[in-house]
Amino acid sequence: MAKRIRVGLIGAGGIARGYHIPSYRRCEDVEIVAACDISESALEILRTQFGVERLYTDYAEMLAQEELDLVSICTSNDMHYPAAMAAMEHGVDVYCEKPLALTVSEAQRMVETAEKKGIKTGVNFSHRRTPAAMLAKEILDSGALGEIYYTSAVYAAGGTNYASRPGTWRNMREKAGYGGLGDMGSHILDMMMWFLKADITEVTCRTRTFVPERIARDTGQPMRVTTEDQGMMLVTYSNGVMGYICGSYTFTGRGYDQRIEIFGQNGGLMYDQQHPYELQVYLPQEVLSRYTILREGGTKDRPYTTLLVPERLQGLIPGSPARRTVLMDFIDAYRAEGPFSFSPGFREGLKVQKVLEAGRRAEEARSWVSLT
Ligand SMILES: NC(=O)c1ccc[n+]([C@@H]2O[C@H](COP(=O)([O-])OP(=O)(O)OC[C@H]3O[C@@H](n4cnc5c(N)ncnc54)[C@H](O)[C@@H]3O)[C@@H](O)[C@H]2O)c1
Repeated sequence: MAKRIRVGLIGAGGIARGYHIPSYRRCEDVEIVAACDISESALEILRTQFGVERLYTDYAEMLAQEELDLVSICTSNDMHYPAAMAAMEHGVDVYCEKPLALTVSEAQRMVETAEKKGIKTGVNFSHRRTPAAMLAKEILDSGALGEIYYTSAVYAAGGTNYASRPGTWRNMREKAGYGGLGDMGSHILDMMMWFLKADITEVTCRTRTFVPERIARDTGQPMRVTTEDQGMMLVTYSNGVMGYICGSYTFTGRGYDQRIEIFGQNGGLMYDQQHPYELQVYLPQEVLSRYTILREGGTKDRPYTTLLVPERLQGLIPGSPARRTVLMDFIDAYRAEGPFSFSPGFREGLKVQKVLEAGRRAEEARSWVSLT
């Protein structure tokens, strides 16, 4: 029988409840034994709605009191580094939310400590598991597009009444590090480096804070916004490919909108997270013939063919509308025999952090910044 994995949650807000807890619950022999949050009301929700009984307001105390194998770090970004370092000090493995840290030096220390101590790490770049993204990855890995000429990746959160939404920790640089570019953009920076199997080597960047003051959700008082609402980057990848990256909170009316377009010598693909089981492509017939076609393309009005994501990449959990998550993949890797191997881990988190920091330097210098 598989050894039971004893998990502690550090941070019990939206992503802990909506993603980490359901993911752990779908894994066999994983038990959420304890949780910690500085908010009593968040802990109360864990107790009443999720049945977690051993609750703490200080993660140092939780780590000292509990026998944990693994922690999930789901706090605001400022606490990822101190919480991960504390967990690793106790020899506890770490699955951390993105972006990994506030700075490159924090992320670097996290990587070094994990590697020195043999800690198993994962970073929740959760969109790698979107079925259409997995199909895009399969097609890219097959080389079907030939030489890549163009890439664009946009991830935006776009509700309504953006300008009048209350301020949260996401609008505070000391708690979030970055705004739309780091929060949303970190996902697609990771995804593009994963897709292209290439690091970003050069970047230029512009960010804007369109709404400089908000009413703080917690206090009802005006607060100054110190993170960007939106950021755009031009990047070069280590294989010479050029790219555009945009991370934003401001796409009014589009909801969570993630689109990646990649065009090459032999064709192109257009991934849209809002259609997770479809991928639009323009590809040679011998590649198309490997897949189920939902809508034929090749006409002036509709040049692109829409492919259905094959069942083997859909990741649907039998008997449930839910899909497998990156965290569930992490647990599989955690249990696997032999040396631990998982991506995205702290190393991939560090790569993203380096691009964000280079972007900030590029904007300050109004120039290109090299990462090599
Ligand atoms: N992977 C994804 O798709 C995804 C989606 C949403 C959020 N996130 C990430 O998850 C993290 C949390 O985001 P959220 O939306 O859940 O935010 P949230 O504000 O809903 O929850 C954060 C929680 O952390 C708690 N917290 C803050 N400091 C703490 C400390 N010192 N000790 C213990 N708890 C502490 C807060 O009280 C709060 O309950 C962020 O890093 C965010 O970037 C990732």
